[in-house]
Amino acid sequence: MTVARYFDEMSYGPAPEADTEARQWLARHNGEFGHFINGAFVAPSSGKTFESHEPATGALLAKLALGNAKDVDDAVAAARKAQGPWAKLPGHARARHLYALARMIQRHARLIAVVEAIDNGKPVRETRDIDIPLAARHFYHHAGWAQLQETEFADQVPVGVVGQVIPWNFPFLMLAWKVAPALALGNTVILKPAEFTPLTALLFAELAAAAGLPAGVLNVVTGEGETGALIVEHADIDKIAFTGSTEVGRLIREKTAGTGKSLTLELGGKSPFIVFDDADIDGAVEGVVDAIWFNQGQVCCAGSRLLVQEGVAPLFYERLTRRMQSLRVGHPLDKAIDMAAIVAPVQLQRIESLVAKGVAEGAKLHQPDIELPKGGSFYPPTLLTNVQPTSIVATEEIFGPVAVSMTFRTPEEAIQLANHSRYGLAASVWSETIGLALNVAAKLAAGVVWVNATNLFDAAAGFGGKRESGFGREGGREGCYEYLKPKAWAGRKLRAAPGEPVLKQATGDFSAPSLDRTAKLFIGGKQARPDGNYSRPVLSPKGKVIGEVGEGNRKDIRNAVVAAHAASGWASATSHNRAQILYYIAENLSGRADEFANRISAMTGVSAAGAKAEVEASISRLFSYGAWADKYEGVVHQPPLRGVALAMPEAIGVVGVICPTEAPLLGFISLVAPLIATGNRVVAVPSEQHPLAATDFYSILETSDVPAGVVNIVTGSAMELAKTLASHNDVDALWAFGTQELSTVVEKLSAGNLKRTFVDYGKATDWFDRFAAEGQAYLRRATDVKNIWIPYGE
Ligand code: NAI
Repeated sequence: MTVARYFDEMSYGPAPEADTEARQWLARHNGEFGHFINGAFVAPSSGKTFESHEPATGALLAKLALGNAKDVDDAVAAARKAQGPWAKLPGHARARHLYALARMIQRHARLIAVVEAIDNGKPVRETRDIDIPLAARHFYHHAGWAQLQETEFADQVPVGVVGQVIPWNFPFLMLAWKVAPALALGNTVILKPAEFTPLTALLFAELAAAAGLPAGVLNVVTGEGETGALIVEHADIDKIAFTGSTEVGRLIREKTAGTGKSLTLELGGKSPFIVFDDADIDGAVEGVVDAIWFNQGQVCCAGSRLLVQEGVAPLFYERLTRRMQSLRVGHPLDKAIDMAAIVAPVQLQRIESLVAKGVAEGAKLHQPDIELPKGGSFYPPTLLTNVQPTSIVATEEIFGPVAVSMTFRTPEEAIQLANHSRYGLAASVWSETIGLALNVAAKLAAGVVWVNATNLFDAAAGFGGKRESGFGREGGREGCYEYLKPKAWAGRKLRAAPGEPVLKQATGDFSAPSLDRTAKLFIGGKQARPDGNYSRPVLSPKGKVIGEVGEGNRKDIRNAVVAAHAASGWASATSHNRAQILYYIAENLSGRADEFANRISAMTGVSAAGAKAEVEASISRLFSYGAWADKYEGVVHQPPLRGVALAMPEAIGVVGVICPTEAPLLGFISLVAPLIATGNRVVAVPSEQHPLAATDFYSILETSDVPAGVVNIVTGSAMELAKTLASHNDVDALWAFGTQELSTVVEKLSAGNLKRTFVDYGKATDWFDRFAAEGQAYLRRATDVKNIWIPYGE
């Protein structure tokens, strides 16, 4: 083609990035890689391999080790051996390692960017300008946290050995998001990259060893889903961090239930992209390009549900379809293209089949008239309009370059449509009216909201979702806590009698109190008879019946959950208001301290002084959370981009609480108070053996201006009620303190809607110890951080 012809056509010519260095690296390994364990490449013990192909051409790229149980064992053993010494290094020494890794990424940025583009099929323009620089930034940022660990996280210790399973859509960036915080804070890692894209993880491990990272600190085991499952189920791993599909995330939640492994899940999404009438239309159109055609739409937080206000919809669609026509789909190494290949034929088929279903359901298909490269897995930028909110394409994650669009009339309708999803990862709001945009941002069920922007990321701003998009955050201070645990919990011992009998047999002195002395349930601010009309006796330590409480059942829990949802205004009450109410509760309890102490003595047999101490500690704890209510606040991040990110802790929602058997008043207060201080509504099941302190508490709640439905109390069998709460889809989180068996059941059944859980694995907390039983460790679990990115400054 002559230069003159380019002038005539004004079309782009190819601008290929050289791949010589990348091919040489592959050749040095003869196109075949082992696992990277204990500082060196090792052959798979089974001798089995699997293949990785270039998405853009289908050509064989490399053979990889297929990890089996022995390989995983070896990697875990290496990580375990390395963990103690690594954690004992001064923070400054670890900071220097992290810093060296960041520098190393920058030095080899071009090689990594090219290997990533070849292996994943994504445009090298993106790997070069986004994936790799963001990964380097992640290591720099976390080098800083390592440096500050001793002062900023003095009350925490590393979790230990961490298994990390990552997906194929951002292979290198996800590695950085996982590995940097884990290593920075003194953990060691077994990483399993996705089977489609294992190469940059191996390249990173090789370069890291050359940069002096001690052997065993980072181990890479390659393989497919089964290898991932072996890591998830390995007994000597302390934490699993997973990014991938919601389906696998749910499986991992079930498999790790009751094991004591800590868990973070970053799962799928169906994020709304909301365009209001008064948006900057050209800006929003460009936003859609970045929201859904960036990385071929294979982005968990892709703005895949386009919601456009009716007045502007015709103009918006016209400009959007015109813009689609100018997008270029080409080879990943061509620097002048917008989109490249889909990761694998199986993903391409999934996209094709979902789009076909959407069209069959009545959606209108828009695809530009552009040529796709031949030979690999390519799919054009696609827009579906006329989509019903219930259509499969509006509810399922397509994970491809397909935007589905709906229109709305009012902001309320936009919020309703946006939140009509089982996911809650991200959202994008476009309006030139700041009041409208921020009002809507506050009401969206999402972990990240971008105002007049999309797909912005930074190491300082936490990322992660709500609902079935998973739990935990990556990045920022909140992300660090995912790799730490409170020192005060490290010494907790198993409860003396894990299988403690539910009820002691009543002996002698049996004088059942009359029925109307039965403490009722407390639901929606009212005392309520249990649905089943059964009650259970409450016994003194000597077996004497000292009262009766209602035997709550599934229906009572359902009623309580409905009442708790109805009290959603509590989340938007001012923190000053919530603080005042907590102080008021404390004051009212103080006025009846003797009565409560007598009750505790009668139920548990503790001395009068011991019971008094429990009441006093409960009053103090209420004061503490009154104090925290208006002090547990967000921060403003200043990422290296135009704008700021407001990191706001938000109430999780409706939270079930199974209180411990011991310390019947203090245990109840220690769990309920942080939850209500932060705006949650609670369905609490009091101590199964000693419930009367909690049922006496109704009258305190009634006289302390606590709005109806904020605290609901259902007495009965802890295990049975926990099962109902754990499998309830409208319960957002469940805290359960009791036996190991209770923890297991709670974590397993919570997999349904992936509710957040907080359990103690049968280990008793010293409720009197303020360091173990109070403070930010509880407030963090009572909230989710929402990051709202807003334009700011020039
Ligand atoms: P996936 O969830 O199966 O794979 C992610 C990682 O988990 C891979 O490393 C895989 O080997 C591993 N894995 C698979 N089964 C496992 C198990 N039982 N235990 C432990 N690890 C396991 O995702 P896949 O199959 O690659 O993609 C399917 C769909 O998942 C996509 O179409 C997309 O909708 C969604 N997805 C979402 C991602 C996100 O970032 N939210 C990333 C990748 C996929």
